[in-house]
Amino acid sequence: MKDILIAPSILSCDFLRLGQEVEDVEDAGADLIHVDVMDGHFVPNITIGPMFVEALRRINRKPLDVHLMIENPAQYVRQFAEAGSDIVTIHAEADNHLFRTLDVIKESGTRAGISFNPATPLNLLKHVISIVDLVLIMTVNPGFGGQKYIPEMAGKVTEARKMIDKAGRYIDLEVDGGIKAENAAEVVKAGGNILVMGTEIFHSGDYRKKIEEVRGKLGR
Ligand code: DX5
Ligand code: ZN
Repeated sequence: MKDILIAPSILSCDFLRLGQEVEDVEDAGADLIHVDVMDGHFVPNITIGPMFVEALRRINRKPLDVHLMIENPAQYVRQFAEAGSDIVTIHAEADNHLFRTLDVIKESGTRAGISFNPATPLNLLKHVISIVDLVLIMTVNPGFGGQKYIPEMAGKVTEARKMIDKAGRYIDLEVDGGIKAENAAEVVKAGGNILVMGTEIFHSGDYRKKIEEVRGKLGR
């Protein structure tokens, strides 16, 4: 059985207390720290840049899982990788030269991920699966925390799982958007092994209790 990893998204944390929030959620049992980068073009919201990853790098103990929701990721991936990201994920919709951009990420010794918006077909995954380390399926339209999970995406997660299992090498399958204790088991059953959770954890008031509740629902 694959390990199921929980990746709290700091998009929903208290940014004024960022360092403490990361420390608290790591103490509470987080496996990865999910960092949402938004540029106001690819998605209608703006968040943070590589300097922020560099600052996080000084305090984090768990891997930094950096999700780039930006146009023209090729221009920025090296900066994000060198800033100290452990994983850099780009969107399939945002880049016409995916092989090249994924290669640049890997050249810096960083794991490379590819993400798909809810309405983007997975077809092209088979052409890049030989170089990706992680596939991220969006279960909301990206841009904001606290949106509702799109249940139709479970089938797509399963489709991605089948492609990954055929690839014959280790690739993580991350799922992001609207994941809560109540639907976590459904996402894992569909084939996901990394669960991103923003509001569910950071608005819960007790991070440890929430993460334990999620693990309880997953039976592990
Ligand atoms: C959405 C981001 C997500 C977001 C998830 O665009 O990519 O990572 O933080 O937040 P929740 O878990 O609240 O849907
Ligand atoms: Zn994300």
